[in-house]
Amino acid sequence: MKKKESDNLMDKIVSLTKRRGFVFPSSEIYDGFTAVYDFGPYGVELANNIKKEWWKTMTQYRDDIVGLDSAIFMSPKIWEASGHVKGFSDPLTECKKCHARLRLDALLEEAGIFADEKMTEEEINKIFEANRDKVKCPQCGATDFTPGKKFNLLVQANLGNFTGDWTKEPTYLRGETCQGIYVNFKNVLDSARVKIPFGIAQIGKAFRNEITALQFIFRTREFEQMEMQYFVKPGDDSKYYEEWKAARWKFYLDLGLSAANLRWHQHENLVFYAKEAYDIEYKFPFGFKELEGIHARGDYDLTQHSKFSGKDLSYLDPTTNEKYMPHVVETSAGVGRTFLAVLTEAYCEEELAGETRIVLKLAPKIAPIKIAIFPLLKNKPELVAKAREVYDALKLVWRCEFDDNGNIGKRYRRQDEIGTPYCLTIDFDTLENSEVTVRDRDTMKQEKIKITDLEKFFREKI
Ligand code: GAP
Repeated sequence: MKKKESDNLMDKIVSLTKRRGFVFPSSEIYDGFTAVYDFGPYGVELANNIKKEWWKTMTQYRDDIVGLDSAIFMSPKIWEASGHVKGFSDPLTECKKCHARLRLDALLEEAGIFADEKMTEEEINKIFEANRDKVKCPQCGATDFTPGKKFNLLVQANLGNFTGDWTKEPTYLRGETCQGIYVNFKNVLDSARVKIPFGIAQIGKAFRNEITALQFIFRTREFEQMEMQYFVKPGDDSKYYEEWKAARWKFYLDLGLSAANLRWHQHENLVFYAKEAYDIEYKFPFGFKELEGIHARGDYDLTQHSKFSGKDLSYLDPTTNEKYMPHVVETSAGVGRTFLAVLTEAYCEEELAGETRIVLKLAPKIAPIKIAIFPLLKNKPELVAKAREVYDALKLVWRCEFDDNGNIGKRYRRQDEIGTPYCLTIDFDTLENSEVTVRDRDTMKQEKIKITDLEKFFREKI
Protein backbone atom coordinates (compact mmCIF):
# COMPACT_ATOMS: atom_id res chain seq x y z
CA MET A 1 0.00 0.00 0.00
CA LYS A 2 1.32 3.40 -0.93
CA LYS A 3 1.08 6.34 1.46
CA LYS A 4 1.84 9.83 0.26
CA GLU A 5 0.26 12.79 2.05
CA SER A 6 1.42 16.00 0.49
CA ASP A 7 0.98 18.18 3.61
CA ASN A 8 4.02 16.80 5.34
CA LEU A 9 5.65 15.23 2.30
CA MET A 10 8.04 18.16 2.01
CA ASP A 11 9.23 17.72 5.61
CA LYS A 12 9.75 14.03 4.96
CA ILE A 13 11.77 14.69 1.81
CA VAL A 14 13.91 17.32 3.56
CA SER A 15 14.52 14.94 6.45
CA LEU A 16 15.39 11.96 4.23
CA THR A 17 17.74 13.98 2.04
CA LYS A 18 19.64 15.20 5.11
CA ARG A 19 19.63 11.85 6.91
CA ARG A 20 20.83 9.90 3.90
CA GLY A 21 23.30 12.42 2.52
CA PHE A 22 21.51 13.86 -0.50
CA VAL A 23 21.25 17.55 0.46
CA PHE A 24 22.89 19.56 3.23
CA PRO A 25 22.16 23.19 4.11
CA SER A 26 25.20 25.28 3.19
CA SER A 27 27.69 26.23 5.92
CA GLU A 28 25.68 24.39 8.54
CA ILE A 29 28.37 24.45 11.26
CA TYR A 30 28.33 28.26 10.93
CA ASP A 31 24.54 28.32 11.41
CA GLY A 32 23.87 28.06 7.70
CA PHE A 33 23.84 30.41 4.74
CA THR A 34 20.40 31.31 3.45
CA ALA A 35 19.19 29.91 0.15
CA VAL A 36 22.30 27.92 -0.66
CA TYR A 37 22.54 24.12 -0.43
CA ASP A 38 25.22 21.46 -0.88
CA PHE A 39 24.71 18.06 -2.48
CA GLY A 40 25.95 15.17 -0.31
CA PRO A 41 27.39 11.82 -1.45
CA TYR A 42 24.12 10.41 -2.87
CA GLY A 43 22.85 13.84 -3.95
CA VAL A 44 25.82 14.48 -6.19
CA GLU A 45 25.24 11.07 -7.84
CA LEU A 46 21.56 11.84 -8.44
CA ALA A 47 22.27 15.36 -9.73
CA ASN A 48 25.04 14.05 -12.01
CA ASN A 49 22.71 11.35 -13.36
CA ILE A 50 20.02 13.96 -14.13
CA LYS A 51 22.61 16.09 -15.90
CA LYS A 52 23.94 13.05 -17.78
CA GLU A 53 20.43 12.21 -19.04
CA TRP A 54 19.86 15.79 -20.16
CA TRP A 55 23.25 15.95 -21.86
CA LYS A 56 22.73 12.66 -23.69
CA THR A 57 19.24 13.69 -24.80
CA MET A 58 20.47 17.06 -26.02
CA THR A 59 23.81 16.18 -27.61
CA GLN A 60 24.58 12.46 -27.95
CA TYR A 61 21.19 11.43 -29.37
CA ARG A 62 21.03 14.32 -31.85
CA ASP A 63 23.17 15.45 -34.78
CA ASP A 64 22.04 19.06 -34.61
CA ILE A 65 23.15 20.14 -31.13
CA VAL A 66 26.66 20.71 -29.81
CA GLY A 67 27.81 21.36 -26.26
CA LEU A 68 29.54 24.30 -24.63
CA ASP A 69 31.01 25.15 -21.24
CA SER A 70 31.42 28.90 -21.01
CA ALA A 71 32.91 30.63 -17.97
CA ILE A 72 30.79 31.98 -15.13
CA PHE A 73 32.48 35.38 -15.37
CA MET A 74 32.00 37.33 -18.56
CA SER A 75 32.43 40.87 -19.74
CA PRO A 76 29.97 43.07 -17.80
CA LYS A 77 28.94 44.52 -21.16
CA ILE A 78 27.15 41.24 -21.86
CA TRP A 79 24.74 41.90 -19.01
CA GLU A 80 24.08 45.39 -20.27
CA ALA A 81 23.38 44.08 -23.77
CA SER A 82 21.11 41.34 -22.49
CA GLY A 83 19.03 43.82 -20.49
CA HIS A 84 19.87 42.26 -17.11
CA VAL A 85 21.60 45.32 -15.63
CA LYS A 86 18.50 47.43 -16.22
CA GLY A 87 15.64 44.98 -16.20
CA PHE A 88 16.44 41.76 -14.34
CA SER A 89 14.53 42.44 -11.19
CA ASP A 90 11.79 41.33 -8.84
CA PRO A 91 9.40 43.65 -6.99
CA LEU A 92 10.53 44.11 -3.38
CA THR A 93 8.52 45.46 -0.46
CA GLU A 94 9.43 45.84 3.20
CA CYS A 95 7.18 45.30 6.19
CA LYS A 96 7.28 48.55 8.14
CA LYS A 97 6.89 46.75 11.46
CA CYS A 98 9.32 43.81 11.40
CA HIS A 99 11.38 45.00 8.39
CA ALA A 100 11.05 41.66 6.61
CA ARG A 101 11.97 42.03 2.93
CA LEU A 102 9.44 40.28 0.77
CA ARG A 103 8.71 39.60 -2.87
CA LEU A 104 5.62 41.61 -3.63
CA ASP A 105 4.28 39.37 -6.43
CA ALA A 106 4.55 36.33 -4.12
CA LEU A 107 2.88 38.24 -1.27
CA LEU A 108 -0.04 39.21 -3.52
CA GLU A 109 -0.31 35.71 -4.93
CA GLU A 110 -0.41 34.35 -1.36
CA ALA A 111 -3.42 36.61 -0.73
CA GLY A 112 -5.14 35.23 -3.84
CA ILE A 113 -4.43 38.27 -6.01
CA PHE A 114 -2.90 37.75 -9.43
CA ALA A 115 0.49 39.41 -9.89
CA ASP A 116 3.59 38.61 -11.88
CA GLU A 117 7.26 39.44 -11.31
CA LYS A 118 7.44 40.67 -14.90
CA MET A 119 4.94 43.50 -14.27
CA THR A 120 6.34 47.03 -14.20
CA GLU A 121 6.76 48.79 -10.85
CA GLU A 122 3.74 50.94 -11.68
CA GLU A 123 1.53 48.00 -12.66
CA ILE A 124 2.25 45.95 -9.57
CA ASN A 125 1.93 48.93 -7.19
CA LYS A 126 -1.48 49.69 -8.66
CA ILE A 127 -2.66 46.18 -7.82
CA PHE A 128 -0.97 46.45 -4.40
CA GLU A 129 -2.74 49.72 -3.58
CA ALA A 130 -6.12 48.31 -4.59
CA ASN A 131 -5.67 45.30 -2.32
CA ARG A 132 -3.77 46.67 0.68
CA ASP A 133 -6.32 45.38 3.18
CA LYS A 134 -5.90 41.80 1.96
CA VAL A 135 -2.13 41.61 2.32
CA LYS A 136 -0.46 40.63 5.60
CA CYS A 137 3.20 40.20 6.52
CA PRO A 138 3.83 36.43 6.75
CA GLN A 139 6.32 37.02 9.58
CA CYS A 140 4.51 39.42 11.95
CA GLY A 141 1.01 39.80 10.51
CA ALA A 142 1.30 43.59 10.07
CA THR A 143 -0.40 45.25 7.11
CA ASP A 144 1.86 48.28 6.60
CA PHE A 145 4.38 48.00 3.79
CA THR A 146 6.65 50.21 1.73
CA PRO A 147 5.62 50.60 -1.93
CA GLY A 148 6.97 47.91 -4.27
CA LYS A 149 10.36 48.69 -5.74
CA LYS A 150 12.22 46.75 -8.41
CA PHE A 151 15.25 44.96 -6.96
CA ASN A 152 17.97 43.80 -9.38
CA LEU A 153 18.80 40.12 -9.05
CA LEU A 154 22.27 40.14 -10.58
CA VAL A 155 25.01 39.20 -8.10
CA GLN A 156 27.91 41.64 -8.25
CA ALA A 157 31.60 40.82 -7.84
CA ASN A 158 34.96 42.61 -7.89
CA LEU A 159 36.82 40.36 -10.32
CA GLY A 160 39.86 42.10 -11.77
CA ASN A 161 39.03 45.43 -10.16
CA PHE A 162 41.74 46.54 -7.75
CA THR A 163 40.72 50.18 -7.38
CA GLY A 164 38.96 49.71 -4.06
CA ASP A 165 35.51 50.95 -4.97
CA TRP A 166 34.42 47.97 -7.01
CA THR A 167 30.75 48.94 -6.91
CA LYS A 168 31.60 51.54 -9.57
CA GLU A 169 32.72 48.90 -12.09
CA PRO A 170 31.05 45.68 -11.03
CA THR A 171 31.44 42.39 -12.76
CA TYR A 172 28.64 39.87 -12.35
CA LEU A 173 28.23 36.22 -11.60
CA ARG A 174 26.09 35.08 -14.51
CA GLY A 175 22.36 35.31 -13.94
CA GLU A 176 21.61 32.71 -16.63
CA THR A 177 23.88 30.39 -18.58
CA CYS A 178 22.45 31.13 -22.04
CA GLN A 179 24.30 34.44 -22.45
CA GLY A 180 27.51 32.39 -22.69
CA ILE A 181 25.88 30.56 -25.60
CA TYR A 182 24.88 33.73 -27.48
CA VAL A 183 28.30 35.32 -27.22
CA ASN A 184 29.91 32.11 -28.52
CA PHE A 185 27.43 31.70 -31.37
CA LYS A 186 29.94 32.85 -34.00
CA ASN A 187 32.78 30.78 -32.50
CA VAL A 188 30.67 27.63 -32.66
CA LEU A 189 29.46 28.43 -36.17
CA ASP A 190 33.03 28.92 -37.39
CA SER A 191 34.53 25.88 -35.67
CA ALA A 192 31.88 23.16 -35.51
CA ARG A 193 30.23 21.84 -38.66
CA VAL A 194 26.78 23.18 -37.89
CA LYS A 195 24.11 24.64 -40.12
CA ILE A 196 20.85 26.27 -39.15
CA PRO A 197 18.75 24.85 -37.61
CA PHE A 198 21.13 23.82 -34.84
CA GLY A 199 21.43 24.13 -31.09
CA ILE A 200 24.05 24.78 -28.42
CA ALA A 201 23.59 23.10 -25.04
CA GLN A 202 25.20 24.02 -21.76
CA ILE A 203 24.98 22.99 -18.11
CA GLY A 204 26.32 25.34 -15.49
CA LYS A 205 25.90 27.43 -12.39
CA ALA A 206 23.85 30.62 -12.31
CA PHE A 207 23.42 33.11 -9.49
CA ARG A 208 20.52 35.33 -8.52
CA ASN A 209 20.00 37.52 -5.51
CA GLU A 210 16.55 36.04 -4.88
CA ILE A 211 14.57 38.12 -2.37
CA THR A 212 12.76 35.30 -0.70
CA ALA A 213 14.23 31.90 -1.21
CA LEU A 214 12.07 29.37 0.56
CA GLN A 215 10.95 25.86 -0.30
CA PHE A 216 14.24 24.05 0.10
CA ILE A 217 16.19 23.66 -3.15
CA PHE A 218 13.31 24.95 -5.31
CA ARG A 219 14.55 28.55 -5.30
CA THR A 220 18.16 29.11 -4.33
CA ARG A 221 20.65 31.93 -4.87
CA GLU A 222 23.22 29.64 -6.44
CA PHE A 223 21.78 26.99 -8.75
CA GLU A 224 22.51 25.04 -11.86
CA GLN A 225 20.78 25.40 -15.21
CA MET A 226 20.58 23.06 -18.19
CA GLU A 227 19.95 25.36 -21.13
CA MET A 228 19.76 24.80 -24.86
CA GLN A 229 19.43 27.54 -27.46
CA TYR A 230 18.14 26.34 -30.83
CA PHE A 231 18.94 28.72 -33.70
CA VAL A 232 16.38 28.76 -36.50
CA LYS A 233 15.51 30.70 -39.65
CA PRO A 234 13.05 33.53 -38.97
CA GLY A 235 9.57 32.22 -39.67
CA ASP A 236 10.43 28.68 -38.57
CA ASP A 237 10.08 29.58 -34.89
CA SER A 238 6.61 28.12 -34.32
CA LYS A 239 7.41 24.78 -35.92
CA TYR A 240 10.51 24.24 -33.77
CA TYR A 241 8.85 25.70 -30.71
CA GLU A 242 6.17 23.02 -30.87
CA GLU A 243 8.79 20.32 -31.46
CA TRP A 244 10.75 21.44 -28.41
CA LYS A 245 7.66 21.60 -26.24
CA ALA A 246 6.93 17.96 -27.08
CA ALA A 247 10.56 16.88 -26.62
CA ARG A 248 10.92 18.52 -23.23
CA TRP A 249 7.65 17.06 -21.93
CA LYS A 250 8.84 13.60 -22.99
CA PHE A 251 12.16 14.12 -21.19
CA TYR A 252 10.37 14.39 -17.85
CA LEU A 253 8.20 11.36 -18.54
CA ASP A 254 11.38 9.43 -19.35
CA LEU A 255 12.87 10.54 -16.03
CA GLY A 256 9.93 8.89 -14.29
CA LEU A 257 7.61 11.86 -13.62
CA SER A 258 3.97 11.01 -14.23
CA ALA A 259 1.93 13.02 -16.72
CA ALA A 260 -0.70 13.65 -14.03
CA ASN A 261 1.89 15.64 -12.05
CA LEU A 262 2.95 17.77 -15.02
CA ARG A 263 1.13 20.61 -16.73
CA TRP A 264 1.70 23.52 -19.09
CA HIS A 265 1.55 27.12 -17.97
CA GLN A 266 1.44 29.80 -20.62
CA HIS A 267 2.99 33.15 -19.62
CA GLU A 268 0.50 35.97 -19.72
CA ASN A 269 3.06 38.72 -19.22
CA LEU A 270 5.79 38.09 -21.75
CA VAL A 271 9.12 39.86 -21.40
CA PHE A 272 9.20 42.43 -24.17
CA TYR A 273 11.36 40.43 -26.59
CA ALA A 274 9.67 37.06 -26.14
CA LYS A 275 7.23 35.80 -28.75
CA GLU A 276 5.98 32.83 -26.77
CA ALA A 277 6.72 31.39 -23.36
CA TYR A 278 5.43 28.28 -21.67
CA ASP A 279 6.56 26.62 -18.48
CA ILE A 280 6.40 22.95 -17.71
CA GLU A 281 5.10 22.89 -14.16
CA TYR A 282 5.42 20.01 -11.72
CA LYS A 283 3.18 19.27 -8.78
CA PHE A 284 5.67 19.78 -5.95
CA PRO A 285 4.47 19.17 -2.36
CA PHE A 286 3.70 22.93 -2.22
CA GLY A 287 1.69 22.91 -5.45
CA PHE A 288 2.25 23.21 -9.20
CA LYS A 289 5.37 25.32 -9.85
CA GLU A 290 7.78 25.95 -12.71
CA LEU A 291 10.20 23.18 -13.56
CA GLU A 292 11.41 24.40 -16.95
CA GLY A 293 10.79 27.34 -19.27
CA ILE A 294 10.49 27.03 -23.05
CA HIS A 295 10.84 30.40 -24.70
CA ALA A 296 10.69 31.74 -28.24
CA ARG A 297 13.19 34.60 -27.88
CA GLY A 298 13.17 35.80 -31.51
CA ASP A 299 16.38 37.53 -32.60
CA TYR A 300 16.56 39.71 -29.49
CA ASP A 301 19.74 38.32 -27.92
CA LEU A 302 21.88 38.02 -31.04
CA THR A 303 20.74 41.47 -32.21
CA GLN A 304 21.60 43.03 -28.84
CA HIS A 305 25.03 41.41 -28.75
CA SER A 306 25.70 42.49 -32.35
CA LYS A 307 24.78 46.03 -31.40
CA PHE A 308 26.75 46.20 -28.15
CA SER A 309 29.85 44.36 -29.41
CA GLY A 310 29.92 45.87 -32.88
CA LYS A 311 30.38 42.35 -34.33
CA ASP A 312 28.03 41.01 -36.98
CA LEU A 313 26.34 37.90 -35.58
CA SER A 314 24.07 37.29 -38.55
CA TYR A 315 24.07 34.00 -40.43
CA LEU A 316 24.84 33.44 -44.09
CA ASP A 317 23.00 30.43 -45.45
CA PRO A 318 25.65 28.49 -47.42
CA THR A 319 23.14 27.05 -49.89
CA THR A 320 20.80 29.99 -50.55
CA ASN A 321 23.21 32.83 -49.74
CA GLU A 322 20.48 34.41 -47.63
CA LYS A 323 21.73 36.50 -44.73
CA TYR A 324 19.64 36.82 -41.60
CA MET A 325 19.73 37.13 -37.85
CA PRO A 326 18.73 33.69 -36.50
CA HIS A 327 15.80 33.35 -34.14
CA VAL A 328 16.09 31.34 -30.94
CA VAL A 329 13.95 28.70 -29.27
CA GLU A 330 15.24 28.19 -25.76
CA THR A 331 14.71 25.33 -23.34
CA SER A 332 15.81 26.19 -19.81
CA ALA A 333 15.67 23.72 -16.94
CA GLY A 334 17.00 23.72 -13.39
CA VAL A 335 19.00 20.82 -11.95
CA GLY A 336 17.77 21.50 -8.40
CA ARG A 337 14.12 21.64 -9.41
CA THR A 338 14.39 18.45 -11.45
CA PHE A 339 16.12 16.84 -8.47
CA LEU A 340 13.27 17.89 -6.17
CA ALA A 341 10.64 16.77 -8.69
CA VAL A 342 12.09 13.27 -9.09
CA LEU A 343 12.36 12.92 -5.30
CA THR A 344 8.76 14.06 -4.85
CA GLU A 345 7.58 11.57 -7.45
CA ALA A 346 9.71 8.75 -6.06
CA TYR A 347 9.02 9.11 -2.32
CA CYS A 348 6.79 6.31 -1.04
CA GLU A 349 5.84 4.87 2.31
CA GLU A 350 4.52 1.34 2.41
CA GLU A 351 3.16 -0.71 5.28
CA LEU A 352 5.16 -3.89 5.60
CA ALA A 353 4.55 -6.38 8.42
CA GLY A 354 3.45 -3.60 10.76
CA GLU A 355 6.38 -1.36 9.84
CA THR A 356 6.73 1.52 7.45
CA ARG A 357 9.02 0.94 4.52
CA ILE A 358 10.32 4.23 3.06
CA VAL A 359 11.35 3.76 -0.52
CA LEU A 360 12.52 6.08 -3.29
CA LYS A 361 11.14 4.59 -6.49
CA LEU A 362 13.60 6.43 -8.70
CA ALA A 363 14.02 5.43 -12.34
CA PRO A 364 17.04 3.06 -12.25
CA LYS A 365 18.98 5.21 -14.72
CA ILE A 366 19.07 8.15 -12.27
CA ALA A 367 19.30 6.20 -8.99
CA PRO A 368 22.51 7.18 -7.12
CA ILE A 369 23.46 3.52 -6.56
CA LYS A 370 22.32 0.95 -9.10
CA ILE A 371 23.27 -2.27 -7.29
CA ALA A 372 24.07 -2.99 -3.64
CA ILE A 373 26.09 -6.12 -2.96
CA PHE A 374 25.81 -7.95 0.38
CA PRO A 375 27.57 -10.99 1.81
CA LEU A 376 24.93 -12.75 3.93
CA LEU A 377 27.20 -12.78 6.99
CA LYS A 378 30.01 -10.44 7.83
CA ASN A 379 31.99 -12.95 9.84
CA LYS A 380 32.28 -15.58 7.08
CA PRO A 381 35.42 -14.66 5.11
CA GLU A 382 34.50 -16.92 2.18
CA LEU A 383 31.17 -15.07 1.72
CA VAL A 384 32.82 -11.66 2.09
CA ALA A 385 35.52 -12.59 -0.43
CA LYS A 386 32.96 -13.81 -2.98
CA ALA A 387 30.82 -10.71 -2.49
CA ARG A 388 33.88 -8.49 -2.98
CA GLU A 389 34.72 -10.35 -6.17
CA VAL A 390 31.21 -9.74 -7.58
CA TYR A 391 31.30 -6.11 -6.40
CA ASP A 392 34.72 -5.48 -7.99
CA ALA A 393 33.44 -6.77 -11.34
CA LEU A 394 30.10 -4.90 -11.35
CA LYS A 395 31.49 -1.59 -10.11
CA LEU A 396 33.44 -1.25 -13.34
CA VAL A 397 30.11 -0.91 -15.16
CA TRP A 398 27.67 0.59 -12.62
CA ARG A 399 27.82 2.67 -9.45
CA CYS A 400 27.59 -0.07 -6.82
CA GLU A 401 27.82 -0.21 -3.05
CA PHE A 402 29.24 -2.96 -0.87
CA ASP A 403 27.56 -3.40 2.51
CA ASP A 404 28.19 -6.06 5.13
CA ASN A 405 26.78 -4.18 8.12
CA GLY A 406 23.78 -5.38 10.14
CA ASN A 407 21.12 -7.88 9.18
CA ILE A 408 19.94 -8.21 5.59
CA GLY A 409 16.55 -6.61 6.36
CA LYS A 410 18.24 -3.44 7.64
CA ARG A 411 20.55 -3.34 4.65
CA TYR A 412 17.53 -3.60 2.32
CA ARG A 413 15.75 -0.74 4.15
CA ARG A 414 18.78 1.51 3.83
CA GLN A 415 19.06 0.86 0.09
CA ASP A 416 15.29 1.34 -0.32
CA GLU A 417 15.60 4.80 1.24
CA ILE A 418 18.29 5.89 -1.20
CA GLY A 419 16.45 4.37 -4.17
CA THR A 420 18.82 1.51 -5.10
CA PRO A 421 16.84 -0.57 -7.62
CA TYR A 422 18.68 -3.88 -7.02
CA CYS A 423 20.25 -5.61 -4.03
CA LEU A 424 22.30 -8.71 -4.51
CA THR A 425 23.07 -11.22 -1.76
CA ILE A 426 25.85 -13.79 -1.68
CA ASP A 427 25.08 -16.74 0.59
CA PHE A 428 26.37 -20.28 1.17
CA ASP A 429 24.52 -21.57 -1.91
CA THR A 430 26.49 -19.08 -4.01
CA LEU A 431 29.69 -20.88 -3.05
CA GLU A 432 28.17 -24.13 -4.29
CA ASN A 433 26.28 -23.13 -7.44
CA SER A 434 27.57 -19.61 -8.31
CA GLU A 435 24.06 -18.16 -8.05
CA VAL A 436 23.22 -14.95 -6.19
CA THR A 437 19.88 -13.63 -4.95
CA VAL A 438 18.76 -10.44 -6.69
CA ARG A 439 16.04 -8.46 -4.97
CA ASP A 440 13.94 -5.89 -6.82
CA ARG A 441 13.37 -2.64 -4.87
CA ASP A 442 9.80 -2.03 -6.02
CA THR A 443 8.31 -5.52 -6.03
CA MET A 444 10.67 -6.89 -3.32
CA LYS A 445 10.64 -10.10 -5.34
CA GLN A 446 13.81 -12.16 -5.26
CA GLU A 447 15.30 -14.28 -7.98
CA LYS A 448 18.40 -16.41 -8.39
CA ILE A 449 20.83 -15.36 -11.10
CA LYS A 450 24.11 -16.98 -12.15
CA ILE A 451 27.12 -14.71 -11.50
CA THR A 452 28.15 -15.07 -15.13
CA ASP A 453 24.70 -13.78 -16.23
CA LEU A 454 24.64 -10.73 -13.94
CA GLU A 455 26.01 -8.23 -16.40
CA LYS A 456 23.52 -9.25 -19.09
CA PHE A 457 20.68 -9.19 -16.52
CA PHE A 458 21.48 -5.68 -15.28
CA ARG A 459 22.10 -4.33 -18.78
CA GLU A 460 18.51 -5.21 -19.60
CA LYS A 461 17.16 -3.79 -16.33
CA ILE A 462 19.06 -0.54 -15.87
N1 GAP B 1 17.52 31.65 -19.77
C1 GAP B 1 16.17 31.70 -19.34
C2 GAP B 1 16.02 31.60 -17.91
O1 GAP B 1 16.97 31.66 -17.15
P1 GAP B 1 14.21 31.34 -16.03
O2 GAP B 1 12.76 31.01 -16.16
O3 GAP B 1 14.60 32.54 -15.27
O4 GAP B 1 14.73 31.43 -17.53
C3 GAP B 1 14.94 28.84 -16.07
O5 GAP B 1 14.96 30.09 -15.42
C4 GAP B 1 14.95 27.70 -15.09
O6 GAP B 1 16.03 27.83 -14.18
C5 GAP B 1 13.71 27.64 -14.20
O7 GAP B 1 12.66 26.96 -14.84
C6 GAP B 1 14.23 26.86 -13.01
O8 GAP B 1 14.22 25.47 -13.27
C7 GAP B 1 15.66 27.34 -12.90
N2 GAP B 1 15.76 28.43 -11.91
C8 GAP B 1 15.59 29.74 -12.10
N3 GAP B 1 15.78 30.43 -10.97
C9 GAP B 1 16.11 29.53 -10.03
C10 GAP B 1 16.43 29.61 -8.63
N4 GAP B 1 16.51 30.77 -7.99
N5 GAP B 1 16.67 28.47 -7.96
C11 GAP B 1 16.63 27.28 -8.59
N6 GAP B 1 16.34 27.14 -9.89
C12 GAP B 1 16.08 28.23 -10.62
